[in-house]
Amino acid sequence: MGYFKVWGGGLPVSGEVCISGAKNAALPIIAAAVLCKRVCLENCPRLSDTATAAEILDTAGFCFDRCGGGVNIEKTDIGCACIPQEMCGKMRSSVLFIAPLLRRFGCVTLFMPGGCRLGARPVDMHLDLLREMGAKISICGDSITARADNLHGIKTRLPFPSVGATETAIMAAVCAEGESEIHNAAKEPEIDDLCAFLNKAGADIRRGEILVIRGRNSLLGDVRHRIMPDRIEAGTYMAAAAITGGELFLKNAVYEHISAFAEVLMQMGCAVRENGDSIYIEAPERLYNPEYIATAPYPLFPTDMQPQLTALAAVKCGDCLIKENIFETRCGHVPQLNKMGAKIELLSRREFLVHGTESRLSPAVTEAADLRCGAALILAALAADGCSVIKNGGYILRGYEDICKKMSLIGVKIKYCT
Ligand code: UD1
Repeated sequence: MGYFKVWGGGLPVSGEVCISGAKNAALPIIAAAVLCKRVCLENCPRLSDTATAAEILDTAGFCFDRCGGGVNIEKTDIGCACIPQEMCGKMRSSVLFIAPLLRRFGCVTLFMPGGCRLGARPVDMHLDLLREMGAKISICGDSITARADNLHGIKTRLPFPSVGATETAIMAAVCAEGESEIHNAAKEPEIDDLCAFLNKAGADIRRGEILVIRGRNSLLGDVRHRIMPDRIEAGTYMAAAAITGGELFLKNAVYEHISAFAEVLMQMGCAVRENGDSIYIEAPERLYNPEYIATAPYPLFPTDMQPQLTALAAVKCGDCLIKENIFETRCGHVPQLNKMGAKIELLSRREFLVHGTESRLSPAVTEAADLRCGAALILAALAADGCSVIKNGGYILRGYEDICKKMSLIGVKIKYCT
């Protein structure tokens, strides 16, 4: 993996950033393309994770063709529904292919997914849903094989509103026989985007308090869809403005999707304004930390912004207690930020107390433990004097399209070295 070099100095960022299509919407939609005839996607981000999803499609006999700003996906070859371990190991979202490939091929083999190590991250809910719908699942070591001639609708309640398991339930149910009711489904906007995509292709999904899907017992048709903007990318650039006392105009960003984070920034002292499909943020140098932030499923504070908030709180005024409720071990950024002079006490793997230093950090050589940890380290580097190095930079490329170009346009000196 390559590394990033960031020359900080606490200089305020300023200018305009165009937010890309959302990684977390693109990945399930690319998987769901397996259920459709011909798919045309706009705003599909160029990320290493979307490239991995394209490799999986290729294995299954689908052509993933980037032309102009769009992507066309279509089945062109016989392909096979056995996804190599190496591809599954690259990202958690490889598991999202299980339901669509099962429906297409009647049998699918894949491997326990890899991805950011944020805790145990089992796939039990995904597999239980498919079993309930009539699939036979066998697990041998790390390989998972699912078989089903046909899936049937179910009424079920998820034990936790898992984003991925909700997406598996939707993709399995749209082409199953009969109606499904999913209670306690996740409410993230990326799931709305997946539903919008599938409904355009001929599915019948209704999103209320209960997720109701009328299965059509056949594959779906043609669809053209524009991927929603990436709320976590938007939030990360907002954090860049906040940490440097800068000013940014984010184009192609939906305020409502990132309002939980925006509200925290406003409490801290930033001015944040919504303007159609854009967000404006202006931050004074002095910001006051919230006393307590806990991550929770949407619409509450997103776990994918927790490391960035930790970096921000580390250099602002006051103490902030952060509680991570989604993942068991999303704390890899804490020792790395401390290497840069932050004062963060790890009370447990889920709880840390940030003592805001109200001063610049020291440049250091740090290592990204995962994607959002990498984002937090870039933010910390902006608030450090001199040049910081962030190793394992490949994690960051999984989720931030053109990060060097976008950061340079707002005044940051940054380089990715391979
Ligand atoms: C998705 C996002 C990720 C985000 C997360 C939570 C994508 C591609 N990724 O991940 O960026 O951080 O939502 O907002 O959209 N769990 C189980 N069993 C399962 C499934 C999940 O125990 O079968 C647990 C997980 O270990 C975790 C929690 O449920 O502790 C939430 O996971 P989930 O909502 O499924 O996250 P992902 O879909 O993996």
